[in-house]
Amino acid sequence: MFAGSRIVFSRTNVIVTRYHIWPLISNLPKVNFLLKAQSAISISCVHNLVSNKSIPLTKEPVSPVNRYVQRTHTCGELTLKNVGEEVKLSGWLEFQRMKKFITLRDSYGSTQLLIPEDRKDLIATIQNLSFESVLSTIGKVVPRPENQQNKKMKTGDIEVYVESLEVLNAASQNPPVFIREYSKAKESQQMKYRYLSLRYPELQKNLRMRSSLIMRMREFLIHECSFVDIETPTLFKSTPGGAQEFVVPTRQPGNFYSLVQSPQQFKQLLMVGGLDRYFQIARCYRDETVRHDRQPEFTQLDIEMSFVDRDGVMSLIENLLIYSWPEELGSIKMPFKLITYKDAMELYGTDKPDLRISYQIQDLTHMFDLPVLKETMKLEDEQKVYALVFPKKAKYLTKSIRDELSKIRSNYFATKLVQLKIESNSWKTQLDKLKLKSGIVTKDVSQYCKLQEGDAVLLAIGHRMDALKLLGKLRTEFTNILEAKGEQIRSSEAELVWITDFPLFTFEETLESSHHPFTQPHPEDMEYLTTDPLKVRGLHYDLVMNGSEIAGGSIRIHDANLQKQILGMLNIDETKLSHMLEALTYGAPPHGGIAIGLDRFICVLCNEKSIKNVIAFPKTMEGRDLMSGAPDIISDELKILYHIQTVDK
Ligand code: AMO
Repeated sequence: MFAGSRIVFSRTNVIVTRYHIWPLISNLPKVNFLLKAQSAISISCVHNLVSNKSIPLTKEPVSPVNRYVQRTHTCGELTLKNVGEEVKLSGWLEFQRMKKFITLRDSYGSTQLLIPEDRKDLIATIQNLSFESVLSTIGKVVPRPENQQNKKMKTGDIEVYVESLEVLNAASQNPPVFIREYSKAKESQQMKYRYLSLRYPELQKNLRMRSSLIMRMREFLIHECSFVDIETPTLFKSTPGGAQEFVVPTRQPGNFYSLVQSPQQFKQLLMVGGLDRYFQIARCYRDETVRHDRQPEFTQLDIEMSFVDRDGVMSLIENLLIYSWPEELGSIKMPFKLITYKDAMELYGTDKPDLRISYQIQDLTHMFDLPVLKETMKLEDEQKVYALVFPKKAKYLTKSIRDELSKIRSNYFATKLVQLKIESNSWKTQLDKLKLKSGIVTKDVSQYCKLQEGDAVLLAIGHRMDALKLLGKLRTEFTNILEAKGEQIRSSEAELVWITDFPLFTFEETLESSHHPFTQPHPEDMEYLTTDPLKVRGLHYDLVMNGSEIAGGSIRIHDANLQKQILGMLNIDETKLSHMLEALTYGAPPHGGIAIGLDRFICVLCNEKSIKNVIAFPKTMEGRDLMSGAPDIISDELKILYHIQTVDK
């Protein structure tokens, strides 16, 4: 059929190694048939036939990105190596100037097109064309004249001398979001016109990185570790003891589904069912306040294994991340660190420490005369004293920055914050200046903390957790302030750390699970379960990257009686979980697992400030989709069908 061409058939590819296609072939149905039969044929030949023009093919097989579409190259790949080639490009009109230069942009980059001065027809075509119109062009690659190269662009050494130009779809005037000035657009506009925002190169890059990362994760789990990819329902029933769920009405009066907050119960039931190595790229729904790292609808890489312990799950995740880590980000730092919850709180004031910041909290309580401190600071009871030293940063403790840091303090109840500059006088004189009675400090803090001229010291005095959390917050906030002023505080390498030995329960007004009610208590702490439950640790682990919790999991309870006992302690109605309790009685294997928050992980990998920038169609802070207007009112007919009555509050 391709006379004079040598066509190499492989199982999935047809590689054309001849330059020209026999121009007499114009029987499209036949070509289409061939295309269907042989999926990866060099499409550029065919489309060139469609446009009745023979374009030399490169000797190379067509790159995957140009197969099956109307182009020979993307707008991001032509360089001096292509000079002399005739090419076909398709994309959006990004910019035009002097009636002869057009920047054509597609998802891979931009290429400059040059309209010949004698082509009045083409000049007329582009004259009134608005930006973001869709064009297809055929032309010859030529070098740009001396001094007109653009070294910032990969295609900046060439331009395409246009032979033909087709307007595939003219855009209406004034697109509401200009891609060239995307970052200047209001966030509400960016969200409303999300389909335009997606043309912005940074968002394109993030979504493509997301796609290849997930592909490599699947590859690792299925090919390297024999996991099975299983979908589980998202319409489920309300689950006690977790995040607030979205409710879905049904046609049965008074009966509702809940959207799953995670596939937690299903993955445990799969273990009972003998599917001992499960994973899923799972959609999860939580009706929580949206934040920069939280969406009501998000995606987890959800994993569960039978006959596994904590170290087994952690090793799996470390190897998964090594395998799927994007090459362009360099290598991942091994081994991952591991810190207990208690140490994380004592050293960093948070269970999500950003270890790119090296500063650690120091406990100075033993260096103070506590009764004197109590009297001097008018404290209700004896409290703890913690310090955080920022070496050589005293000069930044200006009035306005002190005020900013003090504002943060106000969220930490009665905790006192003392901000000290170690400048041309000792630490003790500084305390005296603040009218803290002499004798309050019993030991040489300067020596203990190795204080030096020019250091900034933040002292938090209060109840243990409040004081630690305050310094934990100030550790990142003061770092942000310093970095905004040009100081480099965080190291450039990604820092991953496991946090383990969380308390099994927390106590607000009632006992609650730190992770979820299916988490196995630490075997060493079983004796405290009835006597001192807040002392019991759980077999729960979180993975934290650069200060963000990117994954969480646990070893589960597989004994029905223990599960019943824990539900009772949590005041959870066990009849709501009778299916789980019963399943555990029929030979549930020991099992455990984890879920990686994919959006959050990719957000950290891409160094983005908001999770929205790695999700194609995210929701606003109010949980709304500004593009479609969801959530929206429904018709009276639907209300009747679903037995819904709306009441004004
Ligand atoms: P957990 O609730 O800790 O565990 O969630 C696991 C990870 O999911 C991510 N995540 C979120 N990402 C975006 N928006 C949200 N609203 C959101 N909530 C959580 C976080 C978190 O670390 N079923 C258990 C896992 C298990 O025990 O195996 C679970 O869902 O990165």
